[in-house]
Formats: sequence, C-alpha cells, structure tokens
Amino acid sequence: MTPLHKVLINKDTTINPIWIMRQAGRYLPEFREIRKKNTDFIKLCLNEKLSSEITLQPLKRFDFDAAIIFSDILMLPYALDQKVEFKKNFGPLLGDLNLNEISKLNENDFIKKLSPVYKAINLVSKNNLTKNKSTIGFVGAPWTLLVYMINKQSPKVKLKDNFYQDKSLINKILSTLDKFLKIHIKNQVENGAEIIQIFDSWAGLLNEENLPNYVYNPTLTLVDYVKTLNVPVICFPRGVKNYKNYCDIVKPDGICIDYETDPNKILKEIKIPVQGGMDPKILLTDKEILKKETKKYLDIFKDHPYIFNLGHGVLPETDPNMMDYLVKMVKDY
Ligand code: CP3
Repeated sequence: MTPLHKVLINKDTTINPIWIMRQAGRYLPEFREIRKKNTDFIKLCLNEKLSSEITLQPLKRFDFDAAIIFSDILMLPYALDQKVEFKKNFGPLLGDLNLNEISKLNENDFIKKLSPVYKAINLVSKNNLTKNKSTIGFVGAPWTLLVYMINKQSPKVKLKDNFYQDKSLINKILSTLDKFLKIHIKNQVENGAEIIQIFDSWAGLLNEENLPNYVYNPTLTLVDYVKTLNVPVICFPRGVKNYKNYCDIVKPDGICIDYETDPNKILKEIKIPVQGGMDPKILLTDKEILKKETKKYLDIFKDHPYIFNLGHGVLPETDPNMMDYLVKMVKDY
C-alpha cells in the first residue's frame, strides 16, 4: 500500500505523506523551460511525452508521495468541443457553448480526444519514480465546470447576473457533465490513476440553499461512482463554509481543506481523513515562518489521518528551495 492509501483507507495516523496541488508547474524552472517552447497549453496537455515528463519533474527534486497528472479540469469542456484558451495574465477563456453539438458527441470521440491524457497517466504510473507513490487523476466538479462553461471566464469577483436564468440549459449541461465526467474518471483509473481528486474551486460562490442542487447532489453521484471503481476519492470544495455538512452528505474518502478554513474546527467536526490547509503564501515568507506554520498543521492533525498539502495551488513565485525545506520538514516530523 502506498502512504496515501494507508491514510485514506487504513486511517493511518503514524505517517504524514505529502504532495502539493500544482506541484508540476510554473515555480519550477524546468517546467518554464518546456512551457516557453510550447505556447499552446492545451496542446501541451495533449502531448503525452511532455505531459508525463512534466508530471514527474517535481518527483525528481522532492520526495513527494504522489504524482498528479499534468492536465487541467478544462480539458473536459475542450473535449466536449467548447473552445478553451489560456490567455497570458488573464486565465482561461472559453468559447460559445453549442449544446446541439454536445448532444451529438459520442463516447468514443470523447475518449479519442483525451487519449493522450490517459497515455500520460499510464507512462507516469509505470515509471520507477512513482514506485511506492500514488498516481493521482482528477476532474473538476460539475459545479465548477458549469461555472466556466457558462461564464466562459473566471468568476473571480462574481458570476454573471443572469447566470441562473436558463435553468434548462443548466440542467442539460449538468447531465452531460455527469455522463462524460464518469467516462473521464473511468479511463484515468483504467490507465493507472490510483486516487481521484475532485476540484470544486468555486463551491464557495454558493450559499447553503443552493449547495444541494449544484454541489452536493452532482458530486455525490460522482463520488459514489469512483467508489464502485475501488479507488479512493478526495474532494476539494474550496470556500464552502460548512465542511462538516459537505462531508456528511457527499462522503468522500478524504477532504481537502482551503487556507481560509480553521484546521482546529475541522479536527473537532470531521472524522474522515483530512488533506491540505496551509496558505500557499507561507512559502513566500521565510524558513522560520514556514517551519512554524507547517508544524502547526502537523501538530493539530497528529492523531488524525492527515495528508500534508496546501490550501490551494502552489504559487508561481515560490522558491523551489522553500519547497525542498517544506518536504524535508514534513518527512522529519
Ligand atoms: O496540480 C497539478 O500539478 C496538476 C495539474 C493541474 C493544472 N490545473 C495545471 C495548470 C490541475 C490539477 C489543475 C486544476 C485546475 N485548473 C483547477 C482546480 C484547482 C484550482 O486551481 O482551483 C482550476 C480552477 C483550473 C482552471 C485553470 N487552469 C485556471 C484558472 C488556469 C489559469 C490560472 C493560472 O494559474 O494561470 C489554468 C492554467 C493551468 N493549469 C496552469 C497549470 C500548470 C498554468 C498554465 C501556464 O500558464 O503555464
């Protein structure tokens, strides 16, 4: 059993495995080197040789316990034939949504479009660098994908005023997403993904009243599906106010918490394995502060099954030496 499985399945409290969201990315000079020559991000994700190499880059430097496949949650709308672009200093920009086209899409075309992602997972899971480590596959949660597909750009401040107007459109997209997310998850697992993480980056936009319709119910369906594949599933509903409710209803194997959530409150309320929490900005300070904050999370969860991670993705301006210090500290704890 890999360390992450020991925590997620056996509820082992004697080890502190570590991996980091966005661990393969812009804070690494070797990634920026590849990225410079590959300006089209989607094409890069669809180049299994490069995407598997990028996935393994952080494992060559640091003793992480998992590799997360270098891809993106927006590869799904892309595979559903919605145009997706990543504009520099702007973030993702999506094209118009054509539901007629989407309804004509069949499973085989979808799998064919994403086959380089599945090949990359296969290469990574068979590589010696992931021996005794987990290969993590992932998807965006239906709600977060819905937000990007309708809003067509990041809802950083708020959603478009008329976001909820077309209920029939919303329901059609949600049922399409349910179908294709399951196909995407299945193919990742069949090709070597041993854990699935579901990213719900915009769960915090909703109030408690809207959570059942858009977050709890559609995510529960996916979580139940992952369980039938015998693979543990970690959910990251960033920004929800009530993590306990979320866990009680959605019942993932592990819950990833964001950096605005009080870890002491989580420890008191939540029984399932916990992951993450520390503010990524701590890595931009100094070793003294980093040590103190890291120790804080490890101390709080010392008798609780816990996977060390941050409360959101590692920031591009992070010094890799600080990451090295963090990993060693967690391992020596
Ligand atoms: O974690 C990893 O190392 C695996 C790869 C991964 C990426 N995106 C690569 C990426 C994962 C798991 C994601 C998930 C993702 N993508 C989420 C959920 C997590 C979160 O951050 O909230 C979301 C909302 C997206 C959508 C997305 N992709 C945005 C908003 C952006 C632009 C913002 C940014 O950071 O530039 C991306 C681009 C993206 N995805 C990059 C990477 C490494 C940066 C690409 C680049 O310019 O080099």
